[in-house]
Amino acid sequence: MHTLTTFERDIFTQRQEQQWEDAKRPLTLLYADHPNFTQWLDKFRQITARAYANRPADLHLLDLQRLNQPDWFQQSKMIGYVAYADRFAGNLNGVADKIPYLNELGVNYLHLMPLLHPRDGQNDGGYAVMDYRQIRPDLGTMADLSTLAAQLRQNDISLCIDLVCNHTAKEHAWAKKALAGNRDYQNYYHIFPDRTLPDQYEQTVREIFPDFKAGSFTYYEEIDKWVWTTFNEFQWDLNYANPAVFAEMLEIMLYLANQGVEVLRLDAVAFMWKRMGTDCENQPEAHAILQAFRALSRIVAPALLLKAEAIVPPPQLVPYLGQGRATGKECEVAYHNLFMVMLWSSLAERKTALMTHALQQMPAIPSGTSWLTYARCHDDIGWAVTEEDAAAVGLNGFLHRRFLSEFYDGRFPHSFARGAPFQFNPKNNDQRISGAMASLAGLESAMEAGDTGAIDLAIGRILLLHAMIFAFGGIPLIYMGDEIGLLNEYSYLNDPDLADDNRWMHRPPMDWAKAAKRTDEKSIEGRIFQSLLRLIDARKRLFPLHARAHTRPVWTHNEHIFGLIRESARGRVLVLGNFSEWRQAVSRHRLHELGFDGGMMDWINGYFDIAQHKRKLDPHSDIYLEPYQAMWLEKTK
Ligand code: GLC
Repeated sequence: MHTLTTFERDIFTQRQEQQWEDAKRPLTLLYADHPNFTQWLDKFRQITARAYANRPADLHLLDLQRLNQPDWFQQSKMIGYVAYADRFAGNLNGVADKIPYLNELGVNYLHLMPLLHPRDGQNDGGYAVMDYRQIRPDLGTMADLSTLAAQLRQNDISLCIDLVCNHTAKEHAWAKKALAGNRDYQNYYHIFPDRTLPDQYEQTVREIFPDFKAGSFTYYEEIDKWVWTTFNEFQWDLNYANPAVFAEMLEIMLYLANQGVEVLRLDAVAFMWKRMGTDCENQPEAHAILQAFRALSRIVAPALLLKAEAIVPPPQLVPYLGQGRATGKECEVAYHNLFMVMLWSSLAERKTALMTHALQQMPAIPSGTSWLTYARCHDDIGWAVTEEDAAAVGLNGFLHRRFLSEFYDGRFPHSFARGAPFQFNPKNNDQRISGAMASLAGLESAMEAGDTGAIDLAIGRILLLHAMIFAFGGIPLIYMGDEIGLLNEYSYLNDPDLADDNRWMHRPPMDWAKAAKRTDEKSIEGRIFQSLLRLIDARKRLFPLHARAHTRPVWTHNEHIFGLIRESARGRVLVLGNFSEWRQAVSRHRLHELGFDGGMMDWINGYFDIAQHKRKLDPHSDIYLEPYQAMWLEKTK
């Protein structure tokens, strides 16, 4: 900690004045009834003052840069990449060596999967943390993380890491003290003397990992008590009704920001507040916690973005980006789970009505926020299709979800997909899906059959998915290995700590031998990688793909072709995607109605063939899309 100059102190005071009301409002909702409420407010203030004094000078400068350019993460130049540090590059130093690879792809946001010190043995892929101030020992040290963050920043790459804020490992120091009988620390968690309350809560909460354990509570003999464990037995839910928990997490958050972390992925935020008689998800207090985190962190580190990991239906999801008085004052970014699910649904069905309808129902998000768009991630795919959306396009929700499960686990006749069932719940027939993008998109089965036509189609699907997530609006995330078509991988079965969890089949180690083929356009890896590079290059130059540009799904009047208009004062783009393996057309008449006739450029196809970099389309004919072809049509006059 250094002594602050008058100027630095003034900036702090100014920011505190700006943010304090936004912090106090949610904190009042959370803790006003607490006997020491004002002392707690002072404590939170002190935490921010200390963290501000500890913030390194280069990060203070970054704060000013970000404040000068608040849309930095919304720009179309943003390309995200998601990887496990060990599986990608061995350890944190290894990741630094791979910066040239990330630069080659045009990446400027890197999410390294959980890397804070987890418990030994099973740890849910690192989502069971026992020390938030230490790095997983085999990956490196906190000093390595700061160094890496700085190296990435020099390359215009923002580092994102996970902050597992809903629960700790049962080996965390707080949990250990609770297990030893310490009342103060028992208050850090939700601990019950008997089954009375747990039984009542279980009437209404959902089971997240029914295969791993029944119910949401675990009995511990040492204390003869029941502990709230939403996920695995070894993940203890934190009790945010206790302001001490809020204070601890705030301190950790600012500590990580001061290491140079620019984005915190706040894990499982929907579960942070419990209320009897509800599903204990998305409670107003969960939002208040996030709003308070944001306001307080902006006093110290305005460069920090908060990212909500809330895999919940749209009406519950959008509020994580702030609504009402908190518009734009909660998290800056959130995962667009529905879009991901709809992409896979459309590929299975070869039809886009459900996607168009469901996305049309989504409310717009605050202008200073952004989606994270993705087609694949480290988790399973849950078929978030509502009865209402399904019925609106003539489908039965239950049957459609079952169709999707059977299609992607390969049971459905003639399915191209090779996935596996995850967490089948016989109580409600819910079944999610694991599997790598390429395997789900048909590359694995096509390669096994040696069928070149089917390989072409599978590559087409992979590229189509990327063309969609690159154009929708938000930071698109490339999931490690998808850029070279890595398939399902089964070595996890040999590791007893991983074998029970088939999500590891789509978390393969990066295959650098395959990656070495990325420049050879005759190889599958090269075809995918080079096509992605062209898409990325086009995205970066196309202003209307900025996250702030309006996103409007439109009917193309061809049920196989998805349409999306991106609109801003600086241009309009019509995004089209053919979700079938047949040639399809959008009629000239429909294009005219959508305002896309006359001069247009397609930014994707033949981009490099033509001298001026762009191919002009014939404005007087229908537009044809080859199987799985995507187009980004820009209106030129
Ligand atoms: C999030 C993670 C998932 C993990 C869960 C519990 O949903 O993405 O992998 O199992 O939280 O921490």
